[in-house]
Amino acid sequence: MITPVLLCGGSGTRLWPLSRKSYPKQFSALVGDTSLFQASAQRLSGKGFSAPMVLTNSDFRFIVTEQLSEIGIDPGAILIEPAGRNTAPAVLSAALWLEESDPNALMLVAPSDHVVPDTVAFQAAVTAATPAAEAGKIVTFGITPDRPETGYGYLELEAAPNGGAVTPLRRFVEKPDAKTAGDMLAAGNFLWNAGIFLFSVKSILAAFRKHAGDLIKPVQTSILQGKTDLGFFRLDPAAWDGAQDISIDYAVMEKADNLVVMPFAAGWSDLGGWDAVWKETGPDAKGVATSGNATALDCENSLLRSEDASLEVVGIGVKDIITVAMPDAVLVADINRAQDVKNAVAALKEKS
Ligand code: GDD
Ligand code: MG
Repeated sequence: MITPVLLCGGSGTRLWPLSRKSYPKQFSALVGDTSLFQASAQRLSGKGFSAPMVLTNSDFRFIVTEQLSEIGIDPGAILIEPAGRNTAPAVLSAALWLEESDPNALMLVAPSDHVVPDTVAFQAAVTAATPAAEAGKIVTFGITPDRPETGYGYLELEAAPNGGAVTPLRRFVEKPDAKTAGDMLAAGNFLWNAGIFLFSVKSILAAFRKHAGDLIKPVQTSILQGKTDLGFFRLDPAAWDGAQDISIDYAVMEKADNLVVMPFAAGWSDLGGWDAVWKETGPDAKGVATSGNATALDCENSLLRSEDASLEVVGIGVKDIITVAMPDAVLVADINRAQDVKNAVAALKEKS
């Protein structure tokens, strides 16, 4: 059995005004009818999967249980992080938690804010990668890159990707600079790291001990001194404070020597901006995508969304525009400036 470990702590400012600090993007139905979090939990359910563990913070705990109950999934442990310390302490706490009951368990660590439209293909990739994880490997999932993105991790393969089989990894490079990203794209033997990992509790703990040993004590102590509260488990804040703020990619993946990659070509997006949402919303032949109460007349290459049943959004003759209307805020942006939305959020914060 594989235990899904859903990371549910981020806040996603690039999807403002839909994604807010108090209600981040993973809990919204950005693409499709269920929230991204619900879709992630569903993707990792069924035969071969046990109840999902969820790592989140205190503010989101009831949204998590409510959304899981809506789709009929009973959660396993829900660990509450006293503060966001990035993914390394979060994953380590899940591994130490699971070690208690079954050190040989397999964990599938996954973000809860990605879109992977083909669940069958995804589960097939997980099944095909399982023997490698059982043999002690850390499995990454590799996406074919299409641009020199600097916000992702890159996986250097020993050889060209080999269809549906795991391939040894030569190197893991997290968030390269623009020049390095361009070189890696041109080289042809690199894939993007999807941010999804499969490994046994035993092998990830060995990797943490070897490469990020300083995290073990604070995280272990925060479990030992943590408290159960209404079915949630609160990690101890004082001990958690001592854990470094670092991602698993930097803390472990760049350093570990037992990584393999499972290439995954069936579609993946981390919805890193409104331009990505536009692509996943299925633009028509003119590149127009609408959702909610939105109408586009003679528009081109644009995304028009209304998130409010009483708010009509109409675009006439516009090109390369993103419009997202919420009851209390409206975004109008050039589609090529989608990444600058995070600057708007920073500017608004300063103003308030
Ligand atoms: N519980 C919890 N606690 N979850 C967290 C925390 C935390 O402190 N910090 C981040 N997360 C969640 C985020 O919500 C997201 O779902 C996931 O963990 C990954 O964190 P990001 O902050 O989005 O990472 P990234 O996008 O910079 O990079 C990662 O993902 C890329 C693909 O999207 C890396 O794994 C890259 O290598 C990868 O290419
Ligand atoms: Mg991300």
